[in-house]
Amino acid sequence: MADQAEKLKELAAKKDIKSNNLSHKVRVITITSGKGGVGKSNMTVNLALALAQMGKRVVIFDADFGLANVDILLGLIPRYNMHHVVSGDKQLQEIILKGPLGVHIVPGSTGLLEMANLNGFQRQQLLKQLLELERSAEIILIDTGAGISKSVLGFITAADDVLLITNPEPTSITDAYGIAKIISKYQLQQEVKLVVNQVKNIQEGEDVAQRFSRVAHNYLRLPVDYLGCVLCDSVVARSVREQHPFFIAYPNSKAAECIDRIANNLVEPYSLKVQGGEGMSGFFRKIAKIFS
Ligand SMILES: Nc1ncnc2c1ncn2[C@@H]1O[C@H](COP(=O)(O)OP(=O)(O)OP(=O)(O)O)[C@@H](O)[C@H]1O
Ligand SMILES: [Mg+2]
Repeated sequence: MADQAEKLKELAAKKDIKSNNLSHKVRVITITSGKGGVGKSNMTVNLALALAQMGKRVVIFDADFGLANVDILLGLIPRYNMHHVVSGDKQLQEIILKGPLGVHIVPGSTGLLEMANLNGFQRQQLLKQLLELERSAEIILIDTGAGISKSVLGFITAADDVLLITNPEPTSITDAYGIAKIISKYQLQQEVKLVVNQVKNIQEGEDVAQRFSRVAHNYLRLPVDYLGCVLCDSVVARSVREQHPFFIAYPNSKAAECIDRIANNLVEPYSLKVQGGEGMSGFFRKIAKIFS
């Protein structure tokens, strides 16, 4: 673990130097939580739609290898995934699913982990395809599985931003803090963005965020950028059952309004920043390195 963490730290440091590159616009945002079931996949899908509605070109990368379900939330049925691309059976363009509002979805499977087994030529071929995808995207959202696995830490390290989700339950907050602790200890990111999901009112979200930020600042020296909360809303479960994201199916719901606010908070500072991210190919080059 220590060796692996050192390697991640080294890669994270390299990213800081390279992020001054002004020529790329794509931002890769990894969405993660400590505890499972706190709303990552719903956040990923609905946030993607909100960003798309704001005119952004958005790609979702489903990187929850165990229980990939972005496609299910969107009512889509993927026939192929990254495994087929990495193994050379399909081109990247052939596996991409087209969701509502022009959002594109890349079904991940374990394909990304398999990138590590490619030889130099094969990896170059794959990166070339990813570069093509990059040209059509401005924001890439990566939905990860719960917990602290090697792959989740890889996605945290390689991303431009990490969006940490918790709900107000102490178990969920403690597990989110666990991730923040690793991020800080191995300097995988300079800061984390926080969303508090399933709150009973806005005040509850602010209270949780304030406590979390204070502890992260005092004990980890890790800045926390609070993006907002999502109210507990019955349309979320309903839209999951209907396989139709609430941002589209229930645009006037409380949950959709919250997502809209978060999307705005996420995009506003970006447009002020001169430098963009490293780009998708930079991200995947790093992922290939981390997993090798
Ligand atoms: N704001 C909300 N209001 C009400 N219910 C919610 C809200 N957010 C999430 N849920 C409920 O939590 C469930 C789990 O959400 P989701 O699948 O997005 O979590 P996850 O973090 O991706 O889970 P996993 O760790 O298993 O990948 C949803 O199906 C829904 O029933
Ligand atoms: Mg999920």
